[in-house]
Order: sequence, then structure tokens, then C-alpha cells
Amino acid sequence: MDPASRAAELRAELERHNYLYHVLDSPEIDDSTYDRLFHELLALETADPSLKTPDSPTQRVGAPPVSRFPTYRHKMPMLSLDNAFSEKTLRAFDDRVRRGLGGVEEVEYFVELKFDGASLSLTYLDGVLQVATTRGDGTTGEQVTPNARTVGGIPYVTQQKMTGEVEVRGEVVMFKSAFEALNKERAAHGEQVLANPRNAAAGGLRQLDSRLTAKRKLRFFAYGLGAGPRLGSSQSETLAKLRELGFAVHEEAHVVRGVSGLLDFINDTQARRAALPFLIDGVVIKVNDFDLQENLGFTARGPRWAIAYKFPAEQVFTRLNRIFSQVGRTGAVTPVADLEPVQVAGVTVTRATLHNYEDLARKDVREGDLVIVQRAGDVIPEVVGPVLDKRVGDPPRPQEPTHCPECGTALARRASEVVPRCPNKQCPAQVAAKIRHFVTRKAMDIEGLGEKLIDRFLETGLLTDVASIYRLKDHRDTLINMERLGDQSVDNLLVGIEESKTRPLPRLLFGLGIRGVGDKGAQEIVQELRTLEAIRSADYATFLAIPNVGPATAAELQEWFEEPDNQRLIDEMLSLGVAPTEAEGPVSDLFAGQTFVFTGKLEKMAREDAEELVGKLGGRSSSSVSKQTSFVVAGPGAGSKLAKAEQLGVKVLTEDEFLQMLPNSPPPSEGEGVRE
Ligand code: IVH
Repeated sequence: MDPASRAAELRAELERHNYLYHVLDSPEIDDSTYDRLFHELLALETADPSLKTPDSPTQRVGAPPVSRFPTYRHKMPMLSLDNAFSEKTLRAFDDRVRRGLGGVEEVEYFVELKFDGASLSLTYLDGVLQVATTRGDGTTGEQVTPNARTVGGIPYVTQQKMTGEVEVRGEVVMFKSAFEALNKERAAHGEQVLANPRNAAAGGLRQLDSRLTAKRKLRFFAYGLGAGPRLGSSQSETLAKLRELGFAVHEEAHVVRGVSGLLDFINDTQARRAALPFLIDGVVIKVNDFDLQENLGFTARGPRWAIAYKFPAEQVFTRLNRIFSQVGRTGAVTPVADLEPVQVAGVTVTRATLHNYEDLARKDVREGDLVIVQRAGDVIPEVVGPVLDKRVGDPPRPQEPTHCPECGTALARRASEVVPRCPNKQCPAQVAAKIRHFVTRKAMDIEGLGEKLIDRFLETGLLTDVASIYRLKDHRDTLINMERLGDQSVDNLLVGIEESKTRPLPRLLFGLGIRGVGDKGAQEIVQELRTLEAIRSADYATFLAIPNVGPATAAELQEWFEEPDNQRLIDEMLSLGVAPTEAEGPVSDLFAGQTFVFTGKLEKMAREDAEELVGKLGGRSSSSVSKQTSFVVAGPGAGSKLAKAEQLGVKVLTEDEFLQMLPNSPPPSEGEGVRE
């Protein structure tokens, strides 16, 4: 057979196996056989590049990086769904739907899984994929087409002929197994592990280098259509059609009748949730018939014909082997459970927090107990409580330690606090925790300086405090000679460290790990005081005058900056070249003395940009509504803040009204790619 025919044959064969695997979930060949066929095709295409076609499966492994993603205005906005958390709200939804349809007895619903991933919109022209876009703010997304081409379950050319433009929408997820493997690899390379499969999927879609997206082995499940013609008269017909066209549609999607049908599906799904290979956070319920959907229509937030029934945080049972004390970055000593490894919400959990010793005593958790563990989203897993009737014997109650488990110093405790603290500032556990915090994403975001590496550098004395990070570059040879660290990863790390030197000041301030100063708080402090000089020399009254800084945090700030060791630490960082970008002064005093709160979805600009703009115009923005708030700018989805504004009589603006207050309209914000 000539190479051209063989290549065509291989393309068809590989595409068929892709379909069997991703769409039908019934592969006929194993991975190694697939790889063999794939490499045969790759070899043919390499020998003769003219054999390469855009729809070749080899084109799914990623293309060279782009410098940014072009934005894309959705032809039909990507809205979100209202949530229901209880049977009561579900019944209320059904009542509204029935009333909306003129008081019908029973409604035919279509029920689906609510995939916990990132939504994606795919535009096809005559059956060929043209553009893939993220949801973005719902109105404007980013074009991530080369990345989407690496995602399983998305055909490049539909399996049946189609004419005209069709927009297919669905969710991109990362399977739990792929996620675990990715995190294992990241940890082995000293990189930060990702919080959960949802972040990994969303981050994977926004990689500037699609070869990195391909490595994440993302998967797509179609759940509907955007702009363009219908493919049937109901949701059930549409999904069946999409499946025929070559899109992955999850099989757990059915027509049910009335609330009882909904409840059955919810209960079944909840019971099977942990066994699914990917995360779901609930089920989605849609009125099946499209004409009925049209009758019901939309609110500003989303469709009246659909609702998301959200599940509570995933809970599992496991054995608690041991309780030990952990020392945090501020010296807080808290109990942690060492667990029999268990899968929960997409990650294998071996440790869970027990919060504090008071809580532990109240819940009566003891070593050896069977316990309930829960994890929601990216929060730390926690022990909910013991299963008392499974307790064997009468194990001793865990005791609160009197001395630091790491350095042996006697613990101290403030009268107002439940948590004892290690007062030794040199305590190795505190030093390690401070460095770990300093390099996190929301702080100085130093890529490649993961937990394991920090520990190794501390052991060998290469790191002693956060300032010493900036001295690592003097030890390049030592680093390279360390086990498992090659030139490349050392150089990447050093570049990451260099880049962190000019992070914005709020990140540095947050990274210092002062008690009570979170990332938002750090932003507010910088918004008010502007420069590092001003912050480090401010007194209690100055800190207290900052909106949203209460007496406790003001005292912590003052105490921290009064400490000579801390001042030295800052001087040292500055002398090593750390030069945070400080807040620019206002360019006008248009909004002087005025405070804005943005809530709900902004359609025309990113919230951060709106807030920055307010600052540039001499005003302030805040995250909470009070009597001092001058304006609340409310977009679709605004909830409690809007209600509070109305209750306090604070003036409420639409986004357009806000824009009209500006001297001239601002440029739209453009998203950047992510680096993880
Ligand atoms: S339908 C008008 N179906 O959940 C909105 N959405 O709040 C139509 N999602 O971001 C959405 N699984 O990406 C729909 N089976 C499913 C879904 C689903 C997950 C996501 C969607 C959106 C959010 C809705």
C-alpha cells in the first residue's frame, strides 16, 4: 500500500478508536496498540509532511505556544444556572415551571450530571471545528482552539455531514486518575500540586502551550447548543444527535417525569457519585421540550427552564490512624488526623484537619476511630466526626500538647484564643510554613519551589527564611549537584525566583504571612497606604483607619512591623533586589472620598479592572457594603450585597450607569494565559 493510502487508513482507524474510547466508552484495543498505530502514522507524516491533514489524530497532541488568547464575544451568552440545595427549592422550581406553562400537571424533564469542570463552546462550520472558546465572564471568552483540539470527546470533523454554523457547548473535565497522576508528577518535580480536578481542567484549557494541555488528558462532555439552528425538538433528541455526530455525551442522562422522577435520579446519582471517574457537583435538570423552554424564557441570570441541584461536600468513611500536632506559620498548634488513604472529591486524602483541640474534644474523635471525612472544592479536607458505634474499646482521649512538637518550646495561649501557639520565632516548623506560604500562587507565586524542595533546602541550610530564597542564585552549583535536580529545573526555579521580585506589593504583603492579613486585606492596605515605606512605618491608628481593618488586625500589623527582626527581613529582601510594584497614585480625584462595591457579574469589564479604575480616579473599592459605601454597582447575579445596599439605602448603579460616570470609556480587559 502506498504511504498516502496507509496514512488515510490509519487516520480513519485512529479516529474510530478515539470515538470508541471517548464517546462510546467501549475501546476495542488497548493503549499500547493505539500508540503503535499512532506512531506509525506519525512516522509516515514525518517522512512526508504533505501527508499531514488538519484532521489527523496526530494534530491532537498540541501546537506551538501562543503569546496570548484572542478574545471572543459569544454570539449567545454563556449563562449560569440557578441552584437548588434541597427538595423544597426543587419543588418550588417545579411549581414555577408548571405555573409558567399554564398550570400543567406534570412536566417532562431531562436530567444530566453536573460536571465539575470548565465550560467550553465549540463553533463548527459545515462540520469542521472553527473556534473553541472558554466561558470567560459569560459574554466574552477566550479562544483556546489549539488547546481544545487536544481534548478527548471533541471531533475535529463531525462524523456526519453538517451544513452551516452550529455551536456545541459542554464541559471539560479532568478524570480523577489523570489528576492524581499529574499531581504525583508535579510533586516529584518539586512543583506545587493543583487543588482539584476542576482547577486542573480550567488551567489546562488556558495553557499558552497546547502541548501542555494535551498532557492533561482532558475530556469533553457535550450538554447542549449555543447559537445556531436546533438539532432536534428536545434536549433528549439534541444529545442523541450530538452523540451521532461524534461528541462525547455522558450516558447518565435521561427523560424523567415530575418531581418524583427528579428525586429518583438525584438519589441514584448521589449514591454513585464517588464511583464516577470524574467529579460532579450535582445534577442539572432541564425542561425537555424546546418549545416549552422557549415559553418559559430567561431571567437576567439564566434560563427559567433549568436548575442545578447541587450536592453537599463529598463525604467518605475511613480509619483515623493517628492524631498529631502541626505547627502553622504563625505558630498555631493544631491537631491533624493521619488517615488510612481514601479517595474524596478527586484526590487521595491521607491527612485531614481537626481544626483545634477544643473542637476535637467536642466531637470526641480518638485514634483508631472510623471517621467521616469531607472535602469541598479546594478547601482542606476535614474530619467531620467519628462513627461512635464502630469504636473498638475505649481509646484514650487525645491530649492538647503543652510543648511545641517541633522545637520543644512551652506553648503559650492568649486568653481570647482556642489555639495554643509556639512562641519561638525560629521554630523550624514555622520557618518552613512561612516559606511555603510566601511562594504560593496568591503571594509571590514562585513556580518550582514546592513543599518537598523547601524541606530539602531547609535541611541543607540553603533556606533559612523568606529572604534567603533570593540568595539561592548564589548556590546554583550546589543546587545542580543535589539529587534529582538537573540544570534545567534549577534554572527554571531561579528564573521563577527572579520574576517574583517585581510582583505587586499586595502579594508581598500577603506573603509575609501576618495574622489576619489575607490577600484581599493586603490589597486594601496597599490601596490606602500605597508604598512599602508607608506600610512599614505606619502605626496602629493608621492601620485601623483603613476600611475593613479591625482592631485585632491593626494590632497584628503594628506588632509585626515593630519587630526588629521583621524590619531586617524586609531590608534584606530589598537589598537582594526585591522591588514590588507599588500602587500608582490616583490620576484624578473624580471619585475622591467615594467608596464603590461591585457585586454580581460585570458584563463589560473585569471586576479587578473596575476596582483599579476606581482607585486611579481617586476612589476606593471595597468588598463589603456598609453605610459608608457611596455606590453599589450591581450586575446580574447580585445577591446579599445588593439586598444590603437596598436595606441601608445605598445608591445602586447598573454597570452602564457606572460606565457613564467615567471620564471616557475604558478599554475592555483582555485575559492572559495561565502558567501553573
Ligand atoms: S446547561 C444556560 N448542563 O454548570 C446554562 N451546564 O451554572 C446552560 N454544567 O457553567 C448550562 N454540567 O458549564 C449544563 N449537564 C450540564 C452541565 C452544565 C455542568 C456547568 C456549565 C455552567 C454551569 C451552570
